[in-house]
Amino acid sequence: MTPTANRLDAFWMPFTSNRDFKKKPRIITGAQGHYYTADDGTKLYDTFSGLWTSGLGHSHPKIVEAVQKQVAELDFCMTFQMGNDKAFALAERVTRMAPEGFNHCFFTNSGSESVDTALKFALGYHRARGEGSRTRLIGRERGYHGVNFGGMSVGGIVPNRKAFSANLIPGVDHIRHTMNLDKSAFSRGQPATGAHLADDLERLVALHDGSNIAAVIVEPVAGSTGVLPPPVGYLERLREICDQHGILLIFDEVITAFGRLGKPFAAQRFDVMPDIISTAKGLTNGVIPMGAVLVRDHVYEAFMQGPEQMIEIFHGYTYSGHPVAAAAGLAAMDVYEDENIFEGTQALEQTFEDLLHSFADHPHVIDVRNIGLMGAIEMAPRDGAPGARGMEAHKKCFWDEHLVIRNGMDILQFSPFLNANADEMRTSFEAIRRVLDSID
Ligand SMILES: Cc1ncc(COP(=O)(O)O)c(C=O)c1O
Repeated sequence: MTPTANRLDAFWMPFTSNRDFKKKPRIITGAQGHYYTADDGTKLYDTFSGLWTSGLGHSHPKIVEAVQKQVAELDFCMTFQMGNDKAFALAERVTRMAPEGFNHCFFTNSGSESVDTALKFALGYHRARGEGSRTRLIGRERGYHGVNFGGMSVGGIVPNRKAFSANLIPGVDHIRHTMNLDKSAFSRGQPATGAHLADDLERLVALHDGSNIAAVIVEPVAGSTGVLPPPVGYLERLREICDQHGILLIFDEVITAFGRLGKPFAAQRFDVMPDIISTAKGLTNGVIPMGAVLVRDHVYEAFMQGPEQMIEIFHGYTYSGHPVAAAAGLAAMDVYEDENIFEGTQALEQTFEDLLHSFADHPHVIDVRNIGLMGAIEMAPRDGAPGARGMEAHKKCFWDEHLVIRNGMDILQFSPFLNANADEMRTSFEAIRRVLDSID
């Protein structure tokens, strides 16, 4: 049953055109595997794995069982000056899966909190080492690092910043984004050109002096802005410049961690090691909110000094290391490993790439981009109505084709299940083509 208008009004929905949505709501009441169930019983195929979250499929039985068991066994226990067994076990599992040297893991409740935690760690690291002048943080245009004040400030998506322009945190700069339709449109995987864009960091070093810069934060593949894979050599170059100037490199892997690129972490796929990694989403397969910040030994060790009875960093959340979330995370780690998920993801990548790029000939389409199981089809905006074409495609997919797709303005974004069925993937793209054919 669709809730009444009044009941819908009570929920102020995030990142949603509330008034438009509530005129004809799209309400989900169930999910199993690769399908949602709507309030009228319709089954819908999910092309976005939740919100980049649920790569193992919805309500995975092993995760459901672990959560049910945990909530009855230990529902909550603070992790301030105490601990619970599941949080320690999960930290151990995650650091084992992480690139070498990432031996420490701090828990949060979301991607936004992971980002702000990572930024604070970077500032604290330099201060602890007697380099307190390193306070400047560098983000990238078109970057998305969540919506808290730190992440919003280093982020580079204009509508997210516009209304808060005067209140962004000070001491932040941005390097250029890597999007280049002229040279790199319809690239398969990493664009061949664009590594030189990393040199923009040198400009900021020259302007401020490296000794004032704490950290650079980037998504290894920019996700929410519409999937921008890094040009070949770009991340390597960023790492090099950071090393030259003692700047920490943070990879925001909230989307890319836990298999989206066919490896546990993007750092492993690109073979470029940052100093700090922020994660969330796939950590628990989206079942219980949880994030994690992983740091390399040198970052952790910098804090572990002074009197032992003293708290080393005055930072943490009531729910850091929540036992039920940690149980979900442990079960997710079991599934990633026991079901060889990352190998399966690698095997799907070519099929996904070919299906996406079959849209290159479509009259609405101006670019197609992909890497791993992240992809985007960018459509030209309608004259005077940016975003309208993308939103119409989203609604038509939902109502006419029983397909959940995500659009960011006129860019359709895809995040298939890590264990997707190739035939279902094919069928979903056939439906999307019918929709694009049917709209102006
Ligand atoms: C790279 C990145 N960082 C941070 C976030 C924010 O995560 P959350 O919405 O869980 O706060 C996101 C969300 O999509 C993201 O993609």
